[in-house]
Amino acid sequence: MSDEIRRLIDAARQAARHAHAPYSRFAVGAALLLDDGSIVTGANVENASYGLSLCAETVAVATASAQGRLKDIVAIGVIGGAMDEAGHATGTTPVSPCGRCRQVINEAAQMGHRDVLVHCGAATGDAVTSYRLSALLPDAFGPSDLGIG
Ligand code: THU
Repeated sequence: MSDEIRRLIDAARQAARHAHAPYSRFAVGAALLLDDGSIVTGANVENASYGLSLCAETVAVATASAQGRLKDIVAIGVIGGAMDEAGHATGTTPVSPCGRCRQVINEAAQMGHRDVLVHCGAATGDAVTSYRLSALLPDAFGPSDLGIG
């Protein structure tokens, strides 16, 4: 595993510790690498009105946007897994972003004119599968379709 991937997966694992996921008991953490080397993280935030829940990747992208850094996202690491009794994510199977999160990541990718790297990791272990966003969301609809970016 490269240093960059290790850093992102470690940060995503740390972020997952703050998941608010009492309903699914599935904790997800996401870490965004920005073009200056800094990292922005997020974790899923569920809601008693289940459909209002927010995914970790969406929370992380919204946080970067709120810091004025939407265009600066270079890569993302995501991990997730079923929570144990202590509330920690478990498991060795990599998690990849849901369809809605792929579209949210695409907004950042197109605004920054980058084919963002998406590193999908697990709560524990070294398994990581890496994709370009263009492979996860081919022929994406985005800002450029509306003449933006
Ligand atoms: N979840 C994420 O945070 N990211 C994804 O890409 C997939 C799903 C969250 C949503 C919900 O809180 C829990 O995982 C179970 O679906």
